[in-house]
Amino acid sequence: MIKLENVSKVYPDGTEAVNSVNLEIKEGELCVLLGPSGCGKTTTMKMINRLIPITEGKIYIDGTDNQELDENELRRDIGYAIQEIGLFPHMTVAENIATVPKLKGWSKSEARNRADELLELMGMDPSEHLDKYPVELSGGQRQRVGVARSLGANPPIMLMDEPFGAIDPITRDNLQDEFLKIQEEIQKTIVFVTHDINEAIKMGTKIALLKVGELVQYSSPAELLARPKNQFVRDFVGTDRTLKSMRLMRAKDAMKPSPKTVRLDSEVSVIQKKMKENEVDYLIVTDGSNRFRGWIRAQDLEGDVGSVDEVLSKDVGSVSRETALSDALSVMLEEDVANIPVLGKDNKLEGILTFNDLQEVIGETYTEEGGGRQVGS
Ligand SMILES: Nc1ncnc2c1ncn2[C@@H]1O[C@H](COP(=O)(O)OP(=O)(O)OP(=O)(O)O)[C@@H](O)[C@H]1O
Ligand SMILES: [Mg+2]
Repeated sequence: MIKLENVSKVYPDGTEAVNSVNLEIKEGELCVLLGPSGCGKTTTMKMINRLIPITEGKIYIDGTDNQELDENELRRDIGYAIQEIGLFPHMTVAENIATVPKLKGWSKSEARNRADELLELMGMDPSEHLDKYPVELSGGQRQRVGVARSLGANPPIMLMDEPFGAIDPITRDNLQDEFLKIQEEIQKTIVFVTHDINEAIKMGTKIALLKVGELVQYSSPAELLARPKNQFVRDFVGTDRTLKSMRLMRAKDAMKPSPKTVRLDSEVSVIQKKMKENEVDYLIVTDGSNRFRGWIRAQDLEGDVGSVDEVLSKDVGSVSRETALSDALSVMLEEDVANIPVLGKDNKLEGILTFNDLQEVIGETYTEEGGGRQVGS
């Protein structure tokens, strides 16, 4: 969708802002440009829609060299939320959001409806805010209007430069969540600039980490945390990589699908046999529709057992596929168990997550840290 090939930028005063960057962003991905202030994030982004001319290299949009595309067309077709918010002060919120739709020839009422819809999406009451001027809004509200405006004409590509930078941490967190939900539906191809590692990990499909104009590492957030390429990445990512990994990774990333189970209506002897065969002293019990019903332990089957249902441990923790591993660990510690079922809708069994699975994830980040567990020792 977007491809940067050996892209460099030298400003007229000789500043080398971007140095031979190669980057490929696939359709529907959210690529975060991350790095310290002055590393060239904004410059890189602005070369995509030609707000800044390229010094060397090529940028392709959907396979076409962006130098061959009409400049105005390019800016209309790529949504753009800029770092300094950049609302037109003499226009109302509604007029600001409708700028590009109007340029694209939408009718007045279509544009107004779109503005209404987008403001609602950004968590602002349209009836209260649509007719206000930017000076009548708080900084955070202005920024949200800026994001709404960039979504205006429903462009397939969006460039967002620190879109939530001016917003307080709590509202920011909510907006990030909201935006991720929206993105799941609209599947835009997004280039998203931030200098906040936590925001990058949360938002990114991929993270491009820049250091004074050079691309240092381009990988998924999990990969960046687990396998930082060098000391700069390690320093930038921070010392709590393990915790960040665990907050980032979901139960579905570490669980084992299709665990060994027994049916609720099984004979005790059958269950005991299955435990022996599998060399375990516990099994998950499900019903005929593969719904989780509880755990059965070998010790519960000793002596005179009437039915499996009577001796089942039912009141145990569970997680869903989307539960963060850090939360899954909390459940294990609270319930004092080393295994938890991963359940879907109607308690359908989807997998099992064990403490060993978590240790493996932690181990992977630890080995990289030097002081932690070493492979093979
Ligand atoms: N118009 C310009 N003329 C000369 N140098 C510039 C110009 N714009 C930016 N620079 C320089 O280019 C480098 C990259 O700037 P850029 O704005 O791309 O950084 P950034 O990563 O977006 O930083 P920030 O996080 O502070 O927004 C910096 O050293 C900056 O001073
Ligand atoms: Mg910038």
